[in-house]
Amino acid sequence: MTHKSESGLPIEPVYGPGDPAGWDPAEKLGAPGAYPFTRGVYPTMYTGRPWTMRQYAGFGTAAESNARYRQLIEHGTTGLSVAFDLPTQMGHDSDAPIASGEVGKVGVAVDSLDDMRVLFGGIPLDKVSTSMTINAPAALLLLLYQLVAEEQGIAADRLTGTIQNDVLKEYIARGTYIFPPQPSLRLVADTFRYCRAELPKWNTISISGYHMAEAGASPAQEIAFTLADGIEYVRTAVAAGMDVDDFAPRLSFFFVARTTILEEVAKFRAARRIWARVMREEFGARNPKSLMLRFHTQTAGVQLTAQQPEVNLVRVAVQGLGAVLGGTQSLHTNSFDEAIALPTDKSARLALRTQQVLAYETDVTATVDPFAGSYVVESMTDDVEGAALDLMRRVEDLGGAVHAIEQGFQKAEIERNAYRIAQETDSGERVVVGVNRFRLDEEEPYEPLRVDPAIEAQQAARLARLRAERDGGAVRSALAALQEAAKGETNVLYPMKEALRAKATVGEVCDALREVWGAYVPADAF
Ligand code: 3HC
Repeated sequence: MTHKSESGLPIEPVYGPGDPAGWDPAEKLGAPGAYPFTRGVYPTMYTGRPWTMRQYAGFGTAAESNARYRQLIEHGTTGLSVAFDLPTQMGHDSDAPIASGEVGKVGVAVDSLDDMRVLFGGIPLDKVSTSMTINAPAALLLLLYQLVAEEQGIAADRLTGTIQNDVLKEYIARGTYIFPPQPSLRLVADTFRYCRAELPKWNTISISGYHMAEAGASPAQEIAFTLADGIEYVRTAVAAGMDVDDFAPRLSFFFVARTTILEEVAKFRAARRIWARVMREEFGARNPKSLMLRFHTQTAGVQLTAQQPEVNLVRVAVQGLGAVLGGTQSLHTNSFDEAIALPTDKSARLALRTQQVLAYETDVTATVDPFAGSYVVESMTDDVEGAALDLMRRVEDLGGAVHAIEQGFQKAEIERNAYRIAQETDSGERVVVGVNRFRLDEEEPYEPLRVDPAIEAQQAARLARLRAERDGGAVRSALAALQEAAKGETNVLYPMKEALRAKATVGEVCDALREVWGAYVPADAF
């Protein structure tokens, strides 16, 4: 009986020497670290150094999150990854009415340069690479990070890290957009140009499939829609006059790792091969770094269960193994209690320890791309690649990612797949251990971490003090200069940096841009 994969592709019970048909390793594989990068982006992959262990973290005030980052560094994490609360992600200050109830809840509240300074207090920014999961206001948080580094006496060209900065997937699957697509893409292009000039080691975008996967996308949909977004960003920057090799080496990606590890390994290998070919053949990129799909992986949060939460430790270990066998550059392993609440110190430590076991107690770092030549994985790599290319062609036929988004195409495809998964789970056809099989009559008690509700008043008081102490006139003229740039063609990041340096808040800067660019209202908003 032929099993169906998550992408709806056949998985044969047995594969053999003829699989995949007509397979040419020279064309399909190449050497590790060489075109088309199927086997990985670096010649030595983990044999020299393991992937970056980069645990997504952040909650409450900047001081609370700073404590968690220092704890993670102490436990051996090798990269920082900042979670911001929704008001920050949506460009609102903590004391804005719309922020009520969300301040410090799903991430750290950052309103100003003062908060950013506290967030990274005691952390040498020339010694860590920092990822920031921020999209619509990504430029602001990057500039705040640079301003804090300047205060630490660190030159901008030594800063390493990533801003997610991928607004297109926010229109598709996550929702933290602010401005309409065109000004959003302009801001992305301005950020690419600014980083090229000022922050040459900074990864300017993390083009994400993770959230689409969490919304129900299959592996083929996940890479197809992500790479289609990537093509849109590259076209935008080229149309803005940049040479593809000037910015493409600093593009990066972000995918999920599901428990179905054979297809996940195939998915990652197919994604690298597709991207390498698109960058060479469609955009004429010549720098090998422009062809390399470097990516971060997070284990699938949507597969975590609130029932028997410790079972999630096993799921995360399997998912993490799949990401490593698939050649990820950076990895976040979810904490086992995240289906219930924010991770406790202990569950966050266990999540990191899972990566350390994979890196130091297994032999998966001893050799590159161990599945190369596998009858099964090479067949599945071809199959996932074919399915993804079909979907990319459908997006292209609709006029590219933005036009397809405006027609609701990606969202509809993902929702269709999410509905299939829900039906299979409800019928029991899809086993979820502890949920629809192997259940406990009575769940054991679990005490989650809770965010102190006083955070909202604390942040409001900090904002009141900041506004009272700053030079209001300087802020107003800096915001006016920003609006002039936003109305014209000049790069907005330079006046934006001066406004933030003058202690304009995240909300004030975004409100100034909302006045010029407007706010996005989705087509299906009621
Ligand atoms: N051989 C040669 N060089 C190597 C090497 C090897 N084997 N391994 C690493 N290196 C070098 C690299 O070339 C790089 O140097 P460079 O920057 O000068 O090129 C350096 O060592 C660091 O290596 P990587 O760039 O591979 O690893 P990083 O961890 O620094 O970067 C990334 C990885 C994917 C490129 C980067 O974009 C990144 O860190 N992304 C993280 C994104 C992230 O954390 N997102 C969190 C999202 S959570 C979220 O969305 C919220 C919720 O909704 C889920």
